[in-house]
Amino acid sequence: MQETDRIDDYILKHIDGESEYLKALYRDTHVRLLRPRMASGHLQGRLLTMLVRMIRPRRILEIGTYSGYSSLCLAEGLESDGQLYTFEINDEQEDFTRPWLEGSPYAARIEFIIGDALKLVPEMGLTFDMAFVDGDKRRYVDYYDMILPRLPQGGYIIADNTLWDGHVLETPRPHDAQTRGIMEFNDKIAADPRVEKVILPLRDGLTLIRKK
Ligand SMILES: C[S@@+](CC[C@H](N)C(=O)[O-])C[C@H]1O[C@@H](n2cnc3c(N)ncnc32)[C@H](O)[C@@H]1O
Repeated sequence: MQETDRIDDYILKHIDGESEYLKALYRDTHVRLLRPRMASGHLQGRLLTMLVRMIRPRRILEIGTYSGYSSLCLAEGLESDGQLYTFEINDEQEDFTRPWLEGSPYAARIEFIIGDALKLVPEMGLTFDMAFVDGDKRRYVDYYDMILPRLPQGGYIIADNTLWDGHVLETPRPHDAQTRGIMEFNDKIAADPRVEKVILPLRDGLTLIRKK
């Protein structure tokens, strides 16, 4: 086992465990879905729950539900009257994900919406105290521009995959729109005086953004 794997293993043995429900969802994601690596997993999931408990938002937006792993972790951290609005653009994901969300102990706190968050959030006139951005990497700047006006002062955006497997250090190939999207997002956030920001080198990079 490599040093980094041993550290990861050590971390997972010294933080809160996953619930049996989350473990089963993670397993099912790997058995039945393509690209299961997209699911948040144990460490990032526990961090998301902890961040929600710290920030204490009443309403959370999530862009990119996929199998629902991060949705359940976000909902877990909410007070019982809090609400998570989670959007998934891929309608083929619904048959897998909806039963997992509706069968969970947090079902009452979760609104699962199939469709493009960029289009639906403005149409629905929704506002939030916190957003978890984990959708299409090419559209991170658009998500940010859509979310920021809908957050109060002191509201938070958490953006996933902002180190993009280290590709942010490379010159992106002409057709690599995902790497370009992430780099453009990171540059925009770094230069934006309206927000405070920090990047955690956790997993694939997690940026925490606070609206001043
Ligand atoms: C990385 S996965 C999400 C993983 C999940 N948040 C987790 O951590 O377990 C990204 C998902 O975002 C969805 N997506 C992409 N663009 C979207 C959009 N504009 N609105 C809603 N969902 C979107 C994709 O279909 C994909 O299922």
